[in-house]
Amino acid sequence: MAFEPATWPRRLRSQEWYGGTSRDAIYHRGWLKNQGYPHDLFDGRPVIGILNTWSDLTPCNGHLRELAEKVKAGIWEAGGFPLEVPVFSASENTFRPTAMMYRNLAAMAVEETMRAQPIDGAVLLVGCDKTTPSLLMGAASTDIPSIVVTGGPMLNGWFRGERVGSGTALWQMSEGIKAGKMTTEDFLEAEQAMSRSSGTCNTMGTASTMASMAEALGMALSGNAAIPAVDSRRRVMAQMTGRRIVQMVKDDLKPSDVMTRTAFENAIRVNGAIGGSTNAVIHLLAIAGRVGIDLTLDDWDRLGRDVPTIVNLMPSGEYLMEEFFYAGGLPVVLRHLGEAGLLNRDALTVSGVCIWDEVKDARNWNEDVIRPADRALSASGGIAVLKGNLAPDGAVLKPSAASPQLMQHRGRAVVFEDIDDYKARIDDEALDIDETCIMVLKNCGPKGYPGMAEVGNMGLPPKVLRKGITDMIRISDARMSGTAYGTVILHTSPEAAAGGPLAIVRTGDMIEVDVAVRRLHLDLPDDEIAARLATWTAPAGAPDSGYEKLFQAHVEQASTGADFDFLRGCRGREVPRDSH
Ligand code: FES
Repeated sequence: MAFEPATWPRRLRSQEWYGGTSRDAIYHRGWLKNQGYPHDLFDGRPVIGILNTWSDLTPCNGHLRELAEKVKAGIWEAGGFPLEVPVFSASENTFRPTAMMYRNLAAMAVEETMRAQPIDGAVLLVGCDKTTPSLLMGAASTDIPSIVVTGGPMLNGWFRGERVGSGTALWQMSEGIKAGKMTTEDFLEAEQAMSRSSGTCNTMGTASTMASMAEALGMALSGNAAIPAVDSRRRVMAQMTGRRIVQMVKDDLKPSDVMTRTAFENAIRVNGAIGGSTNAVIHLLAIAGRVGIDLTLDDWDRLGRDVPTIVNLMPSGEYLMEEFFYAGGLPVVLRHLGEAGLLNRDALTVSGVCIWDEVKDARNWNEDVIRPADRALSASGGIAVLKGNLAPDGAVLKPSAASPQLMQHRGRAVVFEDIDDYKARIDDEALDIDETCIMVLKNCGPKGYPGMAEVGNMGLPPKVLRKGITDMIRISDARMSGTAYGTVILHTSPEAAAGGPLAIVRTGDMIEVDVAVRRLHLDLPDDEIAARLATWTAPAGAPDSGYEKLFQAHVEQASTGADFDFLRGCRGREVPRDSH
């Protein structure tokens, strides 16, 4: 039969594959028809890729195939043609040496999956920590219309009448065992209570933080971040997202239209208000780099300083994501920020309207979960960026998760050369350490680990824990889990493995931390630091081949987002030439 493709609403990029009567068009259409698609689906309507990070080995995203069906329903309803596409799923709890080493690989794979295939718009189906930033990075690099829908958090865990927060409880209980306050049998019993349903971590860990960042950036529909994974409203959200992406393609509403500097400023402030993960710093810097926005660590410090932490969730507070949803979720936080003059109200969102229009009527249903500013958990909730001769390019600290009495401190360094050294010596009763010391961990940064593992929140020595001490200052070039807490200084840049000053700290050196003035100082004369750096040699390098070699050769420092140097900027959506 004759086939004249429609122009809906104009010739879309998918028509470069499916449009017309050429041999190539028949080749592309014909193969897809083996799935039983009728001919008129190739009439020029938008082809929407549902980029799905489902994997049995990413249990946080284990329910995303069901959610994809709801997304598909929404796309069909709106006149689009949905095609589900598996993409690299960087699982936080299985990938070694760390999922972070694969974030950039996943982002590359997503970018090329979108550009090299007949995709006019994309629904980014994500959840676990790295899946959200990697898909946002990939989509930003193509600038093809894209929208996020997350899998949502798990329901509250409960153990012996207490809330069990994902990750947070794990850290607390393992320290409880070391301190002799909990038995291994109790720990095993608690394990059963930690993961009560499908979904991502139920604390304000990195997954919930990044879901909130996506919403604050305007890249998800309003209210998306907090809906529990198993709540029927999560499925409604997925279906509405499917409907919305079709219109976004029609309007050519691109990531670069939404993820503007004003949107990133909103996200940084939201991170302070929710007590979000320090990992958001690295991920937002990387995403901004993909859309060509020069976001810096100084932006994080400047914009977050006056933002109170008002969301009372673990690890900074008491509650979990389920209660955040019942209290009204992120729209309430955005409304509070808007009323306080801390929101760029006119930032555009994927819904096509400005963010203020979406949240201005949001109601707070529980003021213990989302506090008014005069009862904030922390008056200054933003990320503190410390600088000094120990971190010339910066290091980060999350004040809302730190101990106020340690915000200004001078202590003797106890140095661990790498994570194996730390594990080998931390439980040694002969280790010369007390609670006034500062624990220093080297060679856990982007190049050093490699991949920058979440090991910065080093557990305290048992002999300190037995005194009832629960926090000490810890400094490293590592990251820490968003579910963790403590006075933990992270992302020290440049990292030790790249020859940063952290590399030459020795046990017994004195270190000064003063968060109020953002100072991180190694108390040594400049000439002594220079002499030590002159004799420093880099640790053994990467293997001769493979992804790890690529990673170590091209990963940037944490202070600029730890992306690959060759992936900064947007490479666009131009259709590659055909090979058939
Ligand atoms: Fe996947 Fe926490 S480990 S969301």
